Amino acid sequence: MAQKDVGNKVPIYKLKTTHEVMKYYDEWGKGNKYNKDMVDWNYTGPKETVEVFKKYALNKDMTIFDAGCGSGLVGLELKKFGFKHFHGADLSQKLLDTIPKNLYQKLIKIDLNKPININNNFFDATMCVGTFTFGHVKPQALDEFIRITKSNGLICFTINEGIYEEYGFDKKIETLKKYNKWEEIEFFKSDYIASKDVNAWLGLYKVS
Ligand SMILES: C[S@@+](CC[C@H](N)C(=O)[O-])C[C@H]1O[C@@H](n2cnc3c(N)ncnc32)[C@H](O)[C@@H]1O
Repeated sequence: MAQKDVGNKVPIYKLKTTHEVMKYYDEWGKGNKYNKDMVDWNYTGPKETVEVFKKYALNKDMTIFDAGCGSGLVGLELKKFGFKHFHGADLSQKLLDTIPKNLYQKLIKIDLNKPININNNFFDATMCVGTFTFGHVKPQALDEFIRITKSNGLICFTINEGIYEEYGFDKKIETLKKYNKWEEIEFFKSDYIASKDVNAWLGLYKVS
């Protein structure tokens, strides 16, 4: 079957450097444009991911790291299901500034392609939705997610189908399994941005 040309579907997929990505989101956050576009596009990543996460995350008091939280769409979903303790981190300060007050316990500006300034085994779970995509965050961030997540904790993420093999996420996930860094619980192709015919792999893993 012919490969889908996912790389041309959305303007952000053309961005190359972290600086370009940051500038783009800083602009996109203005006038609530990012959130409006996500509604128009029927972007279901946050809803689908939290639906899977909540099946296994039974303790509502757990602390969760939302990596690449953007405007807080994952936080809104987590709140709906009674989770209360989540921290958000993102490259775009302008998007962080749009997040409703008191939704997250803590917000930090961060580049997830660099070592994360958080202690080992700090969080009960890490979520990363929409952030493993063209020109954004690379597979090495998964090592950091495992480091900052407690053993037996959960890591739940999406990976845009267009970069899964091209950026080496397929190999990274297999290597982490082979070296018993984590155990696969769920891994399937999700709708993600079905309105644009862009799907994403959705994974949920338990840290060993
Ligand atoms: C498609 S948005 C997803 C945001 C949010 N998780 C959601 O589902 O609506 C991708 C997010 O990744 C962030 N991002 C891109 N590159 C990043 C990096 N190197 N470090 C941290 N965040 C990054 C962007 O600023 C943006 O908020």
